[in-house]
Amino acid sequence: MDKLRITGGVPLKGEIIISGAKNAALKLLAASLLTEETLTLYNVPQLADVNMMAKLLEQHGVAIESGPCKVGQGCTYTLNAANITSLVAPYELVSKMRASVVVLGPLLTRFGDAKVSLPGGCAIGTRPIDMHLYALSAMGAEIRLEEGYVHALAPNGLHGAEIQFDKVSVGATENALMAATLAKGTTIINNAAREPEIGDLAHCLVSMGAKIEGIGTDRLVVKGVDRLHGAEHRVLPDRIETGTYMAAAAITGGDIELIGGDVSQLEAVIEKFEEAGVTITSTARGLRATSNGKLKGIDIQTQPHPGFPTDMQAQFMAMLAVADGSSLITENIFENRFMHVPELARMGAKVVVHGHSAMIRGAEKLTAAEVMATDLRASVSLVLAALAAKGETTINRIYHLDRGYEMLEEKLGACGARIERIH
Ligand code: EPZ
Repeated sequence: MDKLRITGGVPLKGEIIISGAKNAALKLLAASLLTEETLTLYNVPQLADVNMMAKLLEQHGVAIESGPCKVGQGCTYTLNAANITSLVAPYELVSKMRASVVVLGPLLTRFGDAKVSLPGGCAIGTRPIDMHLYALSAMGAEIRLEEGYVHALAPNGLHGAEIQFDKVSVGATENALMAATLAKGTTIINNAAREPEIGDLAHCLVSMGAKIEGIGTDRLVVKGVDRLHGAEHRVLPDRIETGTYMAAAAITGGDIELIGGDVSQLEAVIEKFEEAGVTITSTARGLRATSNGKLKGIDIQTQPHPGFPTDMQAQFMAMLAVADGSSLITENIFENRFMHVPELARMGAKVVVHGHSAMIRGAEKLTAAEVMATDLRASVSLVLAALAAKGETTINRIYHLDRGYEMLEEKLGACGARIERIH
């Protein structure tokens, strides 16, 4: 298994090209199931999770070609789901990647039948899919739970419905949205998630012929159409990758321009960086994060978009571990997303967890150690800590990083980081 070796202490300076957003790309790939015509996606990041979604779709019978890949332009994917051969998403693939569950809505709405393995829990929480199932049954699906699988049936197709989510779920909103595009009649999704990746998916669906109003709001109104057609769509830039490299500039006292980074997707994150003493400026090509290395303790609460994202919580914890004063981080989205705490503690971070909150007392410095990655964002928080720590840190189990960060070593290395992958 690969490891990363990082020798910290270098203020990172330079520019990084931001890749396409993983959490948009995965759902956009699944949207290809909604039409027998070709969907072309540009700026798809080269990531293990993207490969996994492609494998799942191929297993359903989708013909996929991925074109040349260029840094900053990602890969081009052409997907054609004219000849679907399987309506089953098997355990072997779904258990490796929870996002696989988004094939449920598209397969069900187009074919009236879909069977998807229950994903099970994961490192950051139990993560049930009850809201996905509620939405599909409101649209007329019969849901059976059989031998670890969800079997959804709608032999006469789905119908429009008024869906009222009792909490905000990205995945359930996406499944409901895709299912509604081909349902008979109008579907209203109340309390919809507003993450920019959902807007990106909705815009792609509109280019495929879907009728969606309220994009970007918490009330989506979808008028079902008989069929969707092919389209071309460019994946939006990854706001979490952008935020992660902003944190790399902050924690090392550096200065990095994030090419393609979109300020409008990151308002809550930028506000917190500024409160912590990091200077963020808009540039013609994206945005720039500059720090003199003097960080202040701040309080953070994770919330659904437009609030502070849970996917930036671990990175801020690494940064606040070397801030002046105390910080309080409250995690409101997932019940077990402090897996990075014991590993950061091995590097000298002073963190105490009480239920959903973590109190961080800023330390003068972090020290290198051998640490282990537990999930994607936890892993990258260890990379950030290592970039600031004195000495040589080894991070084990970095396959988590390959799921969500394209060319991490190259991007950080180009800004002066001493980082190498050991095979
Ligand atoms: C998406 O996960 C992202 N993943 C996550 O990114 C992200 O952390 C999360 O949204 C929140 O922003 C992808 O897009 C592939 P949810 P998702 O449904 O859709 C509960 C990363 O690091 N819930 O919004 O699975 C759930 O348990 C990751 O890139 C139910 O109770 O998240 C959680 O507490 C990891 N019932 C909360 O809602 C349901 O049916 C929000 O989950 C569905 C969700």
